[in-house]
Amino acid sequence: MRVIVTGGAGFIGSALVRHLVLEKGYDVLNIDALTYAGCLASLRDVEDQPTYRFLKANVCDRAAMDAALAQFHPDRIMHLAAESHVDRSITGAADFIQTNVVGTFTLLEAARGYWNGLDAVSKADFRFLHVSTDEVYGSLDDDGLFEETTSYDPSSPYSASKAASDHLAKAWQRTYDLPVVVSNCSNNYGPYHFPEKLIPLIILNALDERPLPVYGTGENVRDWLFVEDHARALDVIIEKGRIGETYNVGGRNERRNIDVVRRICAVLDTLAPGKEPRENLITFVTDRPGHDARYAIDATKLETELGWRAEENFDTGIEKTVRWYLDNAWWWRPLREQYDGQRLGLSTSAPKVSA
Ligand SMILES: NC(=O)c1ccc[n+]([C@@H]2O[C@H](COP(=O)([O-])OP(=O)(O)OC[C@H]3O[C@@H](n4cnc5c(N)ncnc54)[C@H](O)[C@@H]3O)[C@@H](O)[C@H]2O)c1
Repeated sequence: MRVIVTGGAGFIGSALVRHLVLEKGYDVLNIDALTYAGCLASLRDVEDQPTYRFLKANVCDRAAMDAALAQFHPDRIMHLAAESHVDRSITGAADFIQTNVVGTFTLLEAARGYWNGLDAVSKADFRFLHVSTDEVYGSLDDDGLFEETTSYDPSSPYSASKAASDHLAKAWQRTYDLPVVVSNCSNNYGPYHFPEKLIPLIILNALDERPLPVYGTGENVRDWLFVEDHARALDVIIEKGRIGETYNVGGRNERRNIDVVRRICAVLDTLAPGKEPRENLITFVTDRPGHDARYAIDATKLETELGWRAEENFDTGIEKTVRWYLDNAWWWRPLREQYDGQRLGLSTSAPKVSA
């Protein structure tokens, strides 16, 4: 099996590449532009494998995508490359529109050209998985779950750009018959997570006994999934999912942000006791504009139709994650020098108009 993974130097992409190379024995070409979020150190476990290759390229570059497809001749494309941080999308949406919308369009067109040139057997076997988020569905009240049929209602520039890319992927299937499957997943956490996101930021700040910023009152609910469970789900969906279908991915692990932060504090207090209980470091800060109240995924379709189950619950997964950060300062220390937890995404003023 020959698989192209875009965004394979990112958090989820690197977990997927490790899974496909080490667990499945596939030939993998990782295409990644290495933005601030791309980190080749996350691929240390696979970089010497003869079945792994890396190409530094931008998914918006049609000529580079055409050449990569022609040379590598993939059976599968798993598209994860994206701008992924909501706060950054509030501060500057342009990169999100470019990569998430234009980049997905460019890759779909390159894939269509490549797929049309395949022989009948390869054409029938080819699959394109578009990897997306549950944030496209907007915000839930206290009750209810996101189902695959839930209407799209995105709140942030990030989720709006992902929603647009999902529509493109589905349209390319319906209009051109490109064999596309779409996945929408809840919030991920685990090893190799860039320390701008809630869980790694809290772990590292707590370790350093620095303030632990919690947006608003910390009541917002997210449905957390361990990243390796997501990687396995993506593998199952591209292999067994029905063309043109959407599969929601989630771990049935809803937690309020404040409870996530408290749990991390408790685990760290046990594994690496500090001067005082880490909970004392919690600091409530100005809420994110347009902050969705609650996300919760109904993963019944993926579970019953394709037989996938999350292996980690939040308590086991968060303990593994905290232990990983304690043991792997070599990975996160250089990233903390580059990004030290500065607050992003508060500005809703009009951007400067460029010439
Ligand atoms: N993190 C989550 O909780 C979550 C949940 C559901 C879905 N997703 C989706 O999963 C995918 C991966 O998310 P992540 O958290 O690993 O993101 P990430 O920000 O950690 O990684 C994104 C990767 O894409 C690369 N990239 C960015 N722009 C590119 C471009 N124009 N061309 C090529 N490469 C480019 C970056 O260098 C980086 O390696 C995204 O599509 C995201 O929307 C994420």
